[in-house]
Amino acid sequence: MTTYNLLLLPGDGIGVETIAEVERIVDFFNKAGKVKFATETDLVGGAAYDKHGVAITDAAMDKAQKADAVIFGAVGGPKWDGVPYAVRPEAGLLRLRKDLGLFANLRPAICYPALADASSLKRELVEGLDIMIVRELTGGVYFGEPKEIVTLESGEKRAVDTQVYTTSEIERIAKVAFDLARRRGNKVHSAEKRNVMRTGVLWNEVVTATHKSYAPDVKLEHILADNCAMQLVRNPKQFDVIVTDNLFGDVLSDEAAMATGSLGMLPSASLGAPDAKTGKRKALYEPVHGSAPDIAGKGLANPIATIASFGMALRYSFDMGEEADLLDKAIASVLAAGLRTGDIMQPGMNKVGTAEMGSAILEQLRKLAA
Ligand code: NAD
Ligand code: IPM
Ligand code: MN
Repeated sequence: MTTYNLLLLPGDGIGVETIAEVERIVDFFNKAGKVKFATETDLVGGAAYDKHGVAITDAAMDKAQKADAVIFGAVGGPKWDGVPYAVRPEAGLLRLRKDLGLFANLRPAICYPALADASSLKRELVEGLDIMIVRELTGGVYFGEPKEIVTLESGEKRAVDTQVYTTSEIERIAKVAFDLARRRGNKVHSAEKRNVMRTGVLWNEVVTATHKSYAPDVKLEHILADNCAMQLVRNPKQFDVIVTDNLFGDVLSDEAAMATGSLGMLPSASLGAPDAKTGKRKALYEPVHGSAPDIAGKGLANPIATIASFGMALRYSFDMGEEADLLDKAIASVLAAGLRTGDIMQPGMNKVGTAEMGSAILEQLRKLAA
């Protein structure tokens, strides 16, 4: 039987609680017996900083490099607000993305039928919504140099972040978006700000050139990122795939989450380039949300984003599409049965905590697999 090595990095806050639910789902698939997932757990974020003084150790990075997939919870929290930038909890996640070369971040925003009234948008705007945001993840203003705060002679401070993109970085993420669109609705919106930013001009040029080998079946539209943000709440269903840079992708995906009912619903896959020999990609799977300090440690978090992130691992890393579909069905039927964590609570529904939601999904999975 094939054994896959999973590195679990729960991190901080609700990451710990939602990864615990993923562990139960992993156990389920181990018992099902088609493949074996061997799991190892390590520290990242504030938890790693507290123990080791860094947001991720070299030893944990080494495990991440060797794992078949990393399953990540969340990092950060007010406890670490004052720590130096280079060792902030978030730096652990950024190092993982950069060192593993995870340039393609897939953030699907899907509105489950049962949640069409849980969104802050009207039912008719979100019912049947299925968007894929393709966020560039290892470039742009997150990593561009210089990145610094300097004190000027006058005594005032000057902070600099630098947005940088090269042709090849844009081309490879555009290809990911066009390839995905071919298997979906054949439509890509490319969001940038070419009206203000040089990186936007280059982004637009390279995406247009890359599109030539996908036309005419895949349609491409360019959209300014601010308009894209507005259109996402005006009429989200006009979108199929949105490809965008690291920072716009961060913001637009949180925004798109609300069309699905909650940030607690959005999973993601962060993928590297296929290995030249084996074709395998480095991969990290993580919910889009953070450590939610306001509800952490209370058993209130919605585990669906993290569980669905493991579903994306089944699909994208382990060629277990059927099992991923089964997991999606289990989630959909638990929601259809009226179970709700606080973030997606609606009148007349049955309010549950993190572990109860995890148990219900597991139970459905057992039934569906039987
Ligand atoms: P957040 O995503 O942690 O929370 C935003 C709001 O959404 C909060 O009200 C929270 O309670 C709610 N929420 C988020 N996930 C939820 C879930 N699964 N179930 C129910 N409610 C949920 O964003 P924030 O508060 O701006 O950031 C908190 C910390 O998390 C910061 O340190 C930030 O840097 C970090 N962060 C980490 C990641 C990550 O690890 N990938 C992502 C985003 C933010
Ligand atoms: C996300 C988060 C991260 C980001 C932070 C925690 C570094 O907000 O994954 O969306 O900005 O990319
Ligand atoms: Mn974010």
